[in-house]
Amino acid sequence: MKLILSSLFLVSLVLGLPVHSVLQEKASTKPPFFILAGDSTTAKQTSGGGGWGDGFLNTTLFNGASGKNYGHNGATTVSFRTGGDWGEVLSTVESVKADYRPFVTIQFGHNDQKPAANISLAEYTKNLEAFVAEATDAGATPILVTPLSRRNYDNSTGQPTIIQSLLNETKATVTAARHSGAIYINLNKRSTDYLNAIGPEKAYTYNLNADDRTHLNIGGSIVFGGIVAELIEIYRPDLKEQGFIHVNEELVSDVGKGIYYWPTGIN
Ligand SMILES: *[C@@H]1O[C@H](CO)[C@@H](O)[C@H](O)[C@H]1NC(C)=O
Ligand SMILES: *[C@@H]1O[C@H](CO)[C@@H](O)[C@H](O)[C@H]1NC(C)=O
Ligand SMILES: *[C@@H]1O[C@H](CO)[C@@H](O)[C@H](O)[C@H]1NC(C)=O
Ligand SMILES: *[C@@H]1O[C@H](CO)[C@@H](O)[C@H](O)[C@H]1NC(C)=O
Repeated sequence: MKLILSSLFLVSLVLGLPVHSVLQEKASTKPPFFILAGDSTTAKQTSGGGGWGDGFLNTTLFNGASGKNYGHNGATTVSFRTGGDWGEVLSTVESVKADYRPFVTIQFGHNDQKPAANISLAEYTKNLEAFVAEATDAGATPILVTPLSRRNYDNSTGQPTIIQSLLNETKATVTAARHSGAIYINLNKRSTDYLNAIGPEKAYTYNLNADDRTHLNIGGSIVFGGIVAELIEIYRPDLKEQGFIHVNEELVSDVGKGIYYWPTGIN
């Protein structure tokens, strides 16, 4: 027990979290409930969008763990709040917290970065920090997620390489995590590395439609949802040890080695 407590203390120090809240939250054996806040690259698969959210919820949670996908096509860190989605996220935290440990994943950037949105990187960063503070106050553990890579390649060197159009937003998300003391997972880096390894022809098999290099079809949702789950496990091995999160081992192994993976049973 003493060892566990002192290692938790160390984790708290390293992550800059209040020791008290980490202890309270980790001591719980309630299943986690993942509330997903984000844009169309988190949202469920429809004609207008589709991200990693449903693949994550459908295939990586076990043993009573659950969640809900609030990904909203076209959302920015501003519209997600003004349009009422963020209010729904917070009321879901309230309604599930008696029975679950609520987590709120927060991933934006694809629309915030569009000039028409008129949202500066400083505003984007502040908006993410506000989401973190409010999710924490509501009783959830926030997890910032850097934006999923688009599947556009530069071929000018002879070796197709992902055009990193979301690096500013990735850095800003990391900054928001540092300022607010939240956990972050670097989905942008992990997805970029994998897409670089498999190349464009394989990468396009995840496209929602032939020419849609931003949104994911069901197979893509399962692959990138699995990557999100794996990254969460790295910060929260307790959720894996308690059997709440499990990622297909072949997926983890292939993505880790840069080998193309397509989930079995999905057309
Ligand atoms: C997730 O499950 C729902 C309900 O069964 C289904 O409609 C959807 O296609 C699934 N999506 C993915 C990405 O697995
Ligand atoms: C963009 O945002 C800035 C800062 O909020 C504001 O001053 C400016 O009027 C906005 N521009 C447009 C075109 O909406
Ligand atoms: C790079 O090559 C891929 C595969 O042939 C192609 O789909 C893509 O459009 C090319 N990228 C650019 C920027 O031309
Ligand atoms: C990243 O931000 C810098 C300024 O901070 C800007 O000059 C650059 O164009 C941005 N890059 C992209 C891809 O938006």
